[in-house]
Amino acid sequence: MVLFVKRVGVVGGGAMGSQIADIMAINGKEVIIKDISEEYLKKARENVENNLDSLLEFNVTRADKEIERIEKTNQIQLTDEQKNKIKETLKPKFNEDMKKEAMDKIQTTTDYKEFNDVDLVIEAVLETVDLKKQVFAELDKNTPSHAILATNTSSLSVTEIASVTNRPERVVGVHFFNPPVTLPLVEVIPGMETSEETVNDMIDFMSSIRNHRYPMQPIRVKEVPGFLVNRILFAMMNEAYSCYDEGVASMRDIDLAMKAGAGMPMGPFELSDLVGIDVIYHVEEEVRKMIGGNTMRQPSQTIRKLYHAGRYGKKTKRGFYDYR
Ligand SMILES: NC(=O)c1ccc[n+]([C@@H]2O[C@H](COP(=O)([O-])OP(=O)(O)OC[C@H]3O[C@@H](n4cnc5c(N)ncnc54)[C@H](O)[C@@H]3O)[C@@H](O)[C@H]2O)c1
Repeated sequence: MVLFVKRVGVVGGGAMGSQIADIMAINGKEVIIKDISEEYLKKARENVENNLDSLLEFNVTRADKEIERIEKTNQIQLTDEQKNKIKETLKPKFNEDMKKEAMDKIQTTTDYKEFNDVDLVIEAVLETVDLKKQVFAELDKNTPSHAILATNTSSLSVTEIASVTNRPERVVGVHFFNPPVTLPLVEVIPGMETSEETVNDMIDFMSSIRNHRYPMQPIRVKEVPGFLVNRILFAMMNEAYSCYDEGVASMRDIDLAMKAGAGMPMGPFELSDLVGIDVIYHVEEEVRKMIGGNTMRQPSQTIRKLYHAGRYGKKTKRGFYDYR
């Protein structure tokens, strides 16, 4: 079967869910976001609106910024003809009408009943397996039998989450990366019972849509703790936390080192604050539970302390850095 997606359900309208809803809406899909209260849903819509405003601003200012960049880097003055050519090539591809159209596609709810006509659900609630199992049991009861149920888990077992449903062959991991509106990678992770058809449908679907900048780029990844990107990334981040704990260099200098010396776009502490200290804490706890305490070390003391102090990073305005 080739999956035809008209309507997408998103469970959890937080940092990831609101951006996933945004991506679906700009690709012309009807979206229904479910969260636990009207307050969270209001925040989710505000997040989408802010992101779409950034997309508008990016489109409107892109040509002028490129002209400025070329003139500055090459110390030249472009002619009007050259400027017009750049303006024509980089003319806005997203406008106010498109923003309104995308916003109109997004509905919100606190009730699963409104998932009765979705073709695909992407779950993005907190990273704890018990909560995700509760959500999937509800989804199984409240969505049409043809719908694919996908989880954006960063670390949990897709097989375990699927086990509470009567359609494990149509449950799959689709792991987006923060911020998904600009990062195009999606890890597609089959659980033990996921059918090949579901995996292929997800890969085809993801290949057919774009985020704010690029076509999405799905890759197939085996269900292993941490999947692919986080397995590599967390090893590096943990080294950075240790270097900080041992006083090898200051936090700012470690961030600077990895940007200026290793070509990373963000330093490990900046990235941690963006991802969320709570998300990192839960991912490390869950991965350690899955593969055993001897093969993965405990979350760093600094991560534990920040987590228990409620300093989750940018979302709470304090994490490694202070954003107040
Ligand atoms: N933050 C990241 O960088 C990142 C990257 C990739 C994947 N993920 C994964 O995405 C998921 C969500 O992470 P996030 O950073 O968006 O978290 P978040 O805390 O920003 O958002 C979670 C949302 O889920 C809602 N929620 C909780 N229980 C719910 C329920 N029963 N029904 C509906 N909504 C419920 C919360 O109210 C909140 O709005 C996690 O599984 C995380 O591991 C996060």
